Amino acid sequence: MRLIRAADYTDMSMKAAGIIAAMLTIKPGCVLGLATGETPLGLYRRLVDSCNHGEVDFSQAKAFNLDEYRGLEPGAEQSYRFFMWKNLFSKINIRTENLYIPDGMAGDPEAECSRYEAAIAGCGGIDLQLLGIGNNGHIGFNEPGDSFAVDTHLVDLSESTIDANSRFFGDREEVPKQAYTMGVGSIMRARKALLIVSGRQKAGIVRRAFFGGVSPDVPASILQLHSDFTLIGDEAALSFI
Ligand code: PGA
Repeated sequence: MRLIRAADYTDMSMKAAGIIAAMLTIKPGCVLGLATGETPLGLYRRLVDSCNHGEVDFSQAKAFNLDEYRGLEPGAEQSYRFFMWKNLFSKINIRTENLYIPDGMAGDPEAECSRYEAAIAGCGGIDLQLLGIGNNGHIGFNEPGDSFAVDTHLVDLSESTIDANSRFFGDREEVPKQAYTMGVGSIMRARKALLIVSGRQKAGIVRRAFFGGVSPDVPASILQLHSDFTLIGDEAALSFI
């Protein structure tokens, strides 16, 4: 694991954007795995700026989203498809045919999971997977449990994740109870993994995930076994290390 200490959220975003920009430079047709949540917003703003200034070029890149709620229309403001479109895809020169997000409205969840895994494999696998970490140690929607779920699958969201994500919905009751997520295997198969984390509220889980044992109880801990894993944390998130 490579640990990069950032001074604050802005610095974390800048350092992560630098890594993604470098990947696009050395491999313009790279396959990026992307994440939603508040943490990557600063990074996405930087990538948009760099793209607008002609410093990065997404025209040959492909992007796979880590996860998507089940049961939300793609146009719904809380869907991850909408999030990615609003915060990144509509503002950069990536081609719409190169965007992949699980279909939250798919009628057959099992077929949708297989289709998604096949699409990742069909593109040659993910070059760089961007990740955040949930307060409970989840990556994507791989929630704490008794075992690691390997491939893309449908999950029942934990109460703590529903609580954490209710801030994006009018009412806790509106938060979907299920979501599609890449599995830990899909994530671990990425050639590089980059996790960004900011804020003191994540300091405890950062210590458990990356400086404790590897256990499905803390899904992010599996990244300790990844051969090319970079963790960028700001001082607050790394304050217990
Ligand atoms: P956050 O979410 O970036 O909004 O904190 C991270 C996550 O739940 O994976």
